[in-house]
Amino acid sequence: MLEKTILRVGVLGCGMISADHFAAWAQCQGAQVVAVCDPMADRARARAEQFGIPAFYDSPEAMMAAESLDLIDIITPRETHAAMVRLAARHGIHALSEKPLCPTLAEAEALVAEVGGTIRVMVNENWRYRAYFRKIAEWLQAGKLGTITLARMALWRSSMLPRAEDGKIHALTRQAFLAKEERVLIAESLIHEIDVMRALFGELDVLACSTGRACPGIVGEDSATILLRTGYGLTVTIDGVMTAAGHDTRAPDRLEIAGTRCSVVLEGAVLKLIGAEEETHVYDEAVVRQNCFNASIQHFVDQVKSGGPFWTSAEDQLGSLRVMEDAYRLAGQMPVLSAMQLPPVAPPRITGFDI
Ligand SMILES: NC(=O)c1ccc[n+]([C@@H]2O[C@H](COP(=O)([O-])OP(=O)(O)OC[C@H]3O[C@@H](n4cnc5c(N)ncnc54)[C@H](O)[C@@H]3O)[C@@H](O)[C@H]2O)c1
Repeated sequence: MLEKTILRVGVLGCGMISADHFAAWAQCQGAQVVAVCDPMADRARARAEQFGIPAFYDSPEAMMAAESLDLIDIITPRETHAAMVRLAARHGIHALSEKPLCPTLAEAEALVAEVGGTIRVMVNENWRYRAYFRKIAEWLQAGKLGTITLARMALWRSSMLPRAEDGKIHALTRQAFLAKEERVLIAESLIHEIDVMRALFGELDVLACSTGRACPGIVGEDSATILLRTGYGLTVTIDGVMTAAGHDTRAPDRLEIAGTRCSVVLEGAVLKLIGAEEETHVYDEAVVRQNCFNASIQHFVDQVKSGGPFWTSAEDQLGSLRVMEDAYRLAGQMPVLSAMQLPPVAPPRITGFDI
């Protein structure tokens, strides 16, 4: 519990996704960003000017030593999160870390064991806070679906294809570091879908996984299908692809849940309950996207103040990282996809039909 009206916040990392964090902090109740830091000092200065933040630094150590911070928001590359959380722990500053908490499950387990008792650590698994997933959770908890018989979630995007306008690969213009990562789609993006499915249905075991790569500009996977099952027998699939022509570079998730009483269909940010009861909710994807940052950050502040549990604690993140590790292990050697040698299966000519 932290009994202070306004908590002092420092932000580490002023890259691409920090824009959404700063927008969320600007409307957060009970906390104020007082300092920002990025080794690229120009980025830190620009964010400080943009959001009226009084101090900026190019060294996390210097910022934490000087600013009497209560909270730190870590928005740096995945391989730096653990060192930043450890540094925060040395200064007694509670930490919100971007996902994935660490590049591997083993590193995350070691981190949680080491700092767990000293500071509070939450992971920004913001997808889970999206309005349509919380509505689905309400329906599931109210028993509207009857027996749940199958669930599948898909993230299909064109973000690893060259753009028509300039030939550049959209995902790499936003996150250049992805070009060199050996773990791309599952570790960077599907970790969110894994987290949402765990939030809705409970812990998941990986039965199988298959990955592939089509984009020549990266070394990791840009497509993946994961077959999972809950402890009570529900089969869940998660699939994603970043090279799906015709799909938006930032297309939202598609989710279907089959139930014996009602089923759920989420497509294009339109959520439907169908069957014995019918409901339709139309969401504005841009609003949902920003609001999930706002909700996650507000939850972090509220729970630090009240001493209550985090919905997306570092300990909880271990469940998603366990799925990620098992998925990569079971996927094994990844094929490189190119123009396929399809078997000669041209359909026979059938008389009497015009198609
Ligand atoms: N939750 C989400 O929806 C979401 C979306 C995109 C990215 N992310 C995550 O956010 C993190 C950052 O991603 P990004 O796309 O903004 O990356 P980015 O490369 O655009 O920005 C990272 C910034 O961190 C800075 N940095 C590196 N080490 C630092 C340190 N020790 N202290 C302070 N700053 C440091 C870099 O100079 C850079 O400006 C990653 O973990 C990524 O997976 C989350």
